[in-house]
Amino acid sequence: MNNVNDLNSVERIETNDPGRMLDALWRMPEQCEEALAIGRKTEIPSGYASVSNIVVTGLGGSAIGGDFLRLYIAEKTGVPVIVNRDYTLPAFVDSKTLVFAVSYSGNTEETLSAYAQARETGARIVALTNGGKLRRLAEDDGYPVIVVPAGISPRAATGYLLIPTLTVLEKLGLISGLDAELDELTRTLRSLREELQPKVPVEQNPAKQIATRFYGKIPVIWGAAGSTEVVAMRWKGQVNENGKAPAYWNVFPELNHNEIVGFEEPSALLGQLEIVILRDSGDHPRVQKRMEISKDIIKDVVSGITEVWSRGEGRLTRMFSLTYIGDYVSVYLATLYGIDPTPVRNIDHLKQKLAHS
Ligand code: PA5
Repeated sequence: MNNVNDLNSVERIETNDPGRMLDALWRMPEQCEEALAIGRKTEIPSGYASVSNIVVTGLGGSAIGGDFLRLYIAEKTGVPVIVNRDYTLPAFVDSKTLVFAVSYSGNTEETLSAYAQARETGARIVALTNGGKLRRLAEDDGYPVIVVPAGISPRAATGYLLIPTLTVLEKLGLISGLDAELDELTRTLRSLREELQPKVPVEQNPAKQIATRFYGKIPVIWGAAGSTEVVAMRWKGQVNENGKAPAYWNVFPELNHNEIVGFEEPSALLGQLEIVILRDSGDHPRVQKRMEISKDIIKDVVSGITEVWSRGEGRLTRMFSLTYIGDYVSVYLATLYGIDPTPVRNIDHLKQKLAHS
């Protein structure tokens, strides 16, 4: 464990990050721009038009872009989207389904299994990957393959693993106005990174402040259904994968019907919970009220409550900006724990064991 003052040392932060997760974070606006160009140059067969539903199949860092896609297009088209984090696909998948098979490595067994099933159903498949078996199979099968650059962790490739799916929907005529959305997104991320970067001291750096609150505590992240729910899950995943620490998440209004009751016992442990409430201007007014009342219920029991607001106007920018803050928080938490944010030894161990059984 390191000292909280380490967050004011750029050198300490950088030596703790040999895999250069922070460089990947810094480059996120440029990554989004590159991803737009990569997606736009991919040819999508004319037979892919008029889909009845969309499935994004992937896991972990390769699945989260699918959730953004789901939220983003929910307010733009009537085409339902589901994110499938499993070996198998739902029974509704057929030849009118657009399936995005997403795996940064291209070797994730659940995604390869779902890909094989999608192929059997005659679905319109687009593979999004850096390579591996997924790329080979999809190329051999004659499906469009969007290849994104290597060299970063899947969870640092959110731009690469999201934006090309949007360009496909643009080509299919399901969405428009992507240039304006991307312009707002990259402007907002560029301004946020100035606030969140390592050289900004704790006193002015919201990500470092939240990391300090998370340090030695159990983070609990609350979002709102239909908007920040995905970001809450992402914050939790980033604390796990980058910070190598436990974290939990839940969603309003559902949590007001169960989790909120669980703040009476065990009192000694409740004091270890550090709550973050993700706020967004698009949240339902009744949900916003619920957040206020909920804060009041738990405020004397938990270690602390922090609210973090999304930035920007468009849905994509609002969700991505909150995500970006959480990404920085998780890397600074890794600094505090003296742990390299990049390796995910337990995931690698599981993948290796499974590959040999
Ligand atoms: O961030 C990570 O490393 C993981 O969450 C991976 O994304 C996950 O294990 C799936 O691997 P891949 O993205 O290569 O399909």
